[in-house]
Amino acid sequence: MSKLGDKIKEIRTSNNLTLQEFADSLGYTSSSTINKIEKGVNDIAFSQLVKLCQLYTLDINEFVDNTIINVDLLKYSLPNLEFREINKDNFYDVCMLDVNSEDKEFVASNEMSLAEAYLFKTMGAYVLPIAIYRNRVPIGFIMITKGYVGDKIKGDYLNNYCILRMMIEAKHQNKGLGKLALKQLIEIIKSISINESFIWISTEEKNVKAIHVYEDNGFKKTNDYCGEEIILKYDLSK
Ligand SMILES: CC(C)(COP(=O)(O)OP(=O)(O)OC[C@H]1O[C@@H](n2cnc3c(N)ncnc32)[C@H](O)[C@@H]1OP(=O)(O)O)[C@@H](O)C(=O)NCCC(=O)NCCS
Repeated sequence: MSKLGDKIKEIRTSNNLTLQEFADSLGYTSSSTINKIEKGVNDIAFSQLVKLCQLYTLDINEFVDNTIINVDLLKYSLPNLEFREINKDNFYDVCMLDVNSEDKEFVASNEMSLAEAYLFKTMGAYVLPIAIYRNRVPIGFIMITKGYVGDKIKGDYLNNYCILRMMIEAKHQNKGLGKLALKQLIEIIKSISINESFIWISTEEKNVKAIHVYEDNGFKKTNDYCGEEIILKYDLSK
């Protein structure tokens, strides 16, 4: 049986429905279609999945493997600002990117972030580390997550995408690249959002430059904190 099939069977049996009753509720003529979906022989159409979630008051995210969401990074790249996955070709270059010594307290090293990417995935989180390039040279790093980010935060934040890390290499800062990267990143997150209502980001309150960059891109301060860091939210319902 497939995992999806198992889950659909569980929904049917927990509602005490026969194959035929369940098929009727979803508008299928034959109970054998449900039987095949439960056994993993047939896939369920996305539109039927949405209907099932509405009828049985379920969150569609329960059906999505949070750890696998494909993003077309090229589509959101610009001629002078490109996004690439981290792989064997750029891993060490990204690890070498650094910020000024006075900014080090604001952001983990990229090595640490990539190590956490590994850890958070083992905890079932969605994690997307991205390298930022300018003229084919890596100049920055961003990490999107959803779900586990350590024990620092609870509740609704775990069900919404977070820009957990963002850095532009010291010598490339203050050229408008951070703002531009964030603007494109918001579009990337919008493209993978289904039921999410906001994007969140957190930073030290004294990191006035980062806060300026976030607010300039539509993030608003909240009264919530992730550890010691203030949380800013971007409303996706706009
Ligand atoms: C925060 C960061 C990603 C921004 O990237 P960037 O490429 O330098 O940002 P940009 O050049 O696009 O924009 C910088 C803006 O901040 C402003 N700024 C510069 N220094 C500032 C300061 N000390 N206080 C307030 N604003 C400042 C600039 O004027 C510019 O705003 P404007 O376009 O309205 O004039 C980058 O500075 C960085 O990597 N910082 C260190 C790591 C960090 O703090 N990451 C965030 C952790 S949550």
